[in-house]
Amino acid sequence: MVQRQLPNPAELLELMKFKKPELDGRKRRLDAALTIGDLRTIAKRRTPKAAFDYTDGAAEGELSLTRARQAFQDVEFHPGILRPAPDVDTSVEILGGPSALPFGIAPTGFTRLMQTEGEVAGAGAAAAAGIPFTLSTLGTTSIEGVKAANPHGRNWFQLYVMRDREISYELTRRAAAAGFDTLQFTVDTPVAGARLRDKRNGFSIPPQLTLGTIINAIPRPWWWFDFLTTPKLEFASLSTTGGTVGELLDAAMDPTISYDDLAVIRDIWPGKIIIKGVQNVEDSVRLRDEGVDGIVLSNHGGRQLDRAPIPFHLLPEVRKAVGDDFTVMIDTGIMNGADVVAAVALGADFTLIGRAYLYGLMAGGRQGVDRTIAILRSEIERTMRLLGVSSLAELEPGHVTQLTRLVPVSRAASEAHVH
Ligand SMILES: Cc1cc2nc3c(=O)[nH]c(=O)nc-3n(C[C@H](O)[C@H](O)[C@H](O)COP(=O)(O)O)c2cc1C
Repeated sequence: MVQRQLPNPAELLELMKFKKPELDGRKRRLDAALTIGDLRTIAKRRTPKAAFDYTDGAAEGELSLTRARQAFQDVEFHPGILRPAPDVDTSVEILGGPSALPFGIAPTGFTRLMQTEGEVAGAGAAAAAGIPFTLSTLGTTSIEGVKAANPHGRNWFQLYVMRDREISYELTRRAAAAGFDTLQFTVDTPVAGARLRDKRNGFSIPPQLTLGTIINAIPRPWWWFDFLTTPKLEFASLSTTGGTVGELLDAAMDPTISYDDLAVIRDIWPGKIIIKGVQNVEDSVRLRDEGVDGIVLSNHGGRQLDRAPIPFHLLPEVRKAVGDDFTVMIDTGIMNGADVVAAVALGADFTLIGRAYLYGLMAGGRQGVDRTIAILRSEIERTMRLLGVSSLAELEPGHVTQLTRLVPVSRAASEAHVH
């Protein structure tokens, strides 16, 4: 028999400790987001469909992106036990300078279209967190505007070599003059990937008002208020507008860029230079031998060649081939701090986040990007503690097994033969 008694009012009072309601709606919304996926859900609700899809989408069937994210989810971690890690140090030295966390913000184009604060929010949040911020050639804030938002921290510039070479060279000189310390030369965009969502949405730069966009705008009045009441989007580097992003890219990019262009840019650029968009072992080794400062293993967040190699799967082999002294970074598919930890364990010196940053931006401007960084930071720290390591340098390949769903046909056949 259960023994019963009258409720004790004092005990009841104990239970009734209500939290003070958070009156700041944006803060309330962001605090409720516990994962990057939660930020994505908020972002989707608040952003016009065409702008959200431009950010969230990838090329063709979006297989590259789906596979890259899956590859991170298929990590198996191997913790060490009874190894106290009361404090964890998440800082790294990267390309001659410090970063408080093993990730930086990736270059993204048209950022103010997603949320009006755009690059200023990203650069400000990066400054506050002590991590590098990368401005895209197709950014919507000037080089000098980013420098003003992150005056003492590290700014990196991403370069596309355009058909009109002088535009690219001039941007490179301006970024150097503004004290940007690293150039990311992106090489995976000879032509634009087929971003089918943009085509289907009739997405164009600048956005066009159609019946569809107006209906879609009704539940998202704040985005439109911001868009219409802040300075017009300007592109330092694009002279033509009025098409989809793919059409703009095709008009602006030079499909014939080569190692000769790399040589010219190295003459102009005084700082560190890394090549973004490397997708095999052979190119990694060649670039090391050419003397660049590092590479980013990336398939551009799945926005270029669909069914491209998964960068995270390439990582161990590339690290083995280039040796320990060459800087290898990785991006595409990072949605969790544990993904970053897994990449570092398998030999990445650093990682970049694209959409994780943009979901935060769309969910809540500068505070939303702060939230993205805070979520990733806590996931990194917790994963390190649970693995029993107190610094990133202690992470090693033994901490991670990459489980694979997809194996090359040749390997599957030879394994079948052995068993
Ligand atoms: C909306 C959007 C715009 C992008 N624009 C550029 C760009 O202008 N230049 C560039 O090198 N990469 C660009 N990227 C690729 C990112 O730098 C990065 O490689 C990619 O987002 C990483 O994958 P993730 O989004 O899964 O983190 C863009 C990515 C997104 C999502």
